[in-house]
Amino acid sequence: MTKQIDLGGSFTPTGTSIGLKRMGYGAMQLAGPQVWGPPRDTDAAIAVLREAVAAGINHIDTSDFYGPHVTNQIIKRALHPYPEGLVIVTKVGGRRGEDKSWVRAISRKELTDAVHDNLRNLGLDALDIVNYRVMGSGHGPEEGSIAKQVTVLAELQRQGLVRHIGLSNVTAAQVAEAQAITDIVCVQNLYNIANRQEDGLVDDLAHRGIAYVPFFPLGGFSPLQSSALDAAAAALQATPMQVALAWLLQRSPNILLIPGTSSVEHLRENLRAATLQLPSEMVAGLDSIGGDTAATNGNV
Ligand SMILES: NC(=O)c1ccc[n+]([C@@H]2O[C@H](COP(=O)([O-])OP(=O)(O)OC[C@H]3O[C@@H](n4cnc5c(N)ncnc54)[C@H](OP(=O)(O)O)[C@@H]3O)[C@@H](O)[C@H]2O)c1
Repeated sequence: MTKQIDLGGSFTPTGTSIGLKRMGYGAMQLAGPQVWGPPRDTDAAIAVLREAVAAGINHIDTSDFYGPHVTNQIIKRALHPYPEGLVIVTKVGGRRGEDKSWVRAISRKELTDAVHDNLRNLGLDALDIVNYRVMGSGHGPEEGSIAKQVTVLAELQRQGLVRHIGLSNVTAAQVAEAQAITDIVCVQNLYNIANRQEDGLVDDLAHRGIAYVPFFPLGGFSPLQSSALDAAAAALQATPMQVALAWLLQRSPNILLIPGTSSVEHLRENLRAATLQLPSEMVAGLDSIGGDTAATNGNV
């Protein structure tokens, strides 16, 4: 039987009754190479999802544009009927081109169809949380109104198809604009120990009871590498990836983790990061990684 460990406590976004364990799981790695098509080993992907839930994870991040559709279909195959309390968070706002590109899909019809596609592929009557993912030029969040798209999602929420709304790849101004339309429960942007441009946003959202869910917590397509991480890991008899996750958990109570992996072994390793205590002098050393040119990190 899978051993359940403390997953870093939980966080309940203001205005909701959802207690999200701070250690969750990101399902993007379950599609094939370049997040396209089926994985090499679908049974292994199913095993990762079942292990995640057996270990106590109640927050799975996904999207119908992973595969496309493949990741959601694997989640349904592995976990449906879903256990009580499991929160599946998905994203709309994009689709995949035939050439595997990531394309904006933001008209009323495209957003509505995307919600229905997610419902069908996941086998749900309502989606727990839908993030409006702003597709930009690929260099991080860009300013520009998102009011029309958020209004469409708020209408789908009133129809009962969406329970809560979040945002992804957004600026602070876009969060404020969306909040004037509906309650925003989470923001999913690029952030990790080596990529700290959003420190201010993390703190601001913490004050407002909004979850901050960093994507690429381990560096994404370019895994984190840093001598400071290596040294901290050696001192704690842990791995650098575990230290990177523990640093995020310690950074702010509203940070929820969704590290992605296609391996049960890496999943277990990542979950154990929630049991690591980083001494304050170690955190001070790790804090310097953000400005350390030796560190590399993933970019969208
Ligand atoms: N909103 C957005 O725009 C957006 C963008 C990207 C991702 N996301 C979400 O965020 C989640 C996390 O991002 P991500 O999966 O791209 O990147 P990540 O979690 O930073 O890193 C995943 C990579 O790290 C490897 N890995 C995982 N655990 C490891 C360990 N313990 N030791 C060594 N390597 C390890 C994985 O390979 P293995 O499979 O071999 O473990 C994979 O290559 C995604 O799954 C997705 O749900 C959202």
